[in-house]
Amino acid sequence: MNTAAMRVVQTVTEARDARRAIRGSVGLVPTMGYLHEGHLALVRRARRENDFVAVSIFVNPTQFGPNEDFAAYPRDMQRDLAMLESEGVGLVFTPGVEQMYPKGFDCAIEPGGITERLEGVVRPGHFRGVATIVAKLFHVIAPTRAYFGQKDAQQARVIQKMVADLDFDLDVVVVPTVREADGLAMSSRNVYLNPEERQAAVVLSKSLRLAEQRVNEGRRDAASIRGEMAGLIAREPLARIDYISIADAASLAELSEVRLPALVSLAVRIGKTRLIDNAVLSASQNGEGLPQVDQHDE
Ligand code: PAF
Repeated sequence: MNTAAMRVVQTVTEARDARRAIRGSVGLVPTMGYLHEGHLALVRRARRENDFVAVSIFVNPTQFGPNEDFAAYPRDMQRDLAMLESEGVGLVFTPGVEQMYPKGFDCAIEPGGITERLEGVVRPGHFRGVATIVAKLFHVIAPTRAYFGQKDAQQARVIQKMVADLDFDLDVVVVPTVREADGLAMSSRNVYLNPEERQAAVVLSKSLRLAEQRVNEGRRDAASIRGEMAGLIAREPLARIDYISIADAASLAELSEVRLPALVSLAVRIGKTRLIDNAVLSASQNGEGLPQVDQHDE
């Protein structure tokens, strides 16, 4: 494991040069910064599994829609770098937009059918932006393994598919979601929530727990489970549902009858903040980290 000082580079040329000097396996954690415990879980896993850890921090404009929060997305580079240094990260790549998308840039990775549902429907072009930047980062850093959070379940599937379909020579590692004590999935966007909204936001993970309980009870009618989730969320005045999905965990195709493993996922607006969360329901699930649903919640 690398114990040398952490190096921070801004250009593709510097990052490539730094990469060439690294011996042994390299774990890459791509991020958009404003790091939290969820990112640190990726970094720690990468440290355990590789000789060297590289992290990228880049708020990628091409994955934000015109009415989304690119300009407002939280940024705190000094704090991020201090956190990464204390985690033993060897290299941090912090390019500017002009590095990743120089004048005349005109190429993209277009992921296929897996983006025609869930986030891909609500955020057209989002996964094209994600896949394109992640492919570029893979080319620049040439990692042995790359680490992504299960919190962005569809993103993880899109990248796994891109790596398989385009023969990238690396392993994609998907790391379980890290949650606050009350069950809220960690996200850089949680910073947008005021105290009242922060309390309301727990309804996402509660509704996932409810779905899990129903499946554990042997229920398999996806529409009625989705309906119960929607009913629970509807009782939270600050919440507005974008979608609730119960899908095949691999293809993300919507299910009418729950077959395991299934991905239960949802996007909900709490005030002006759009949050996503999910749980994989499998035969051996135990709902780790999801909050209990009180009887009066159901
Ligand atoms: O998950 C994220 O933070 C971003 O989508 C990623 C993978 C760093 C690409 O910009």
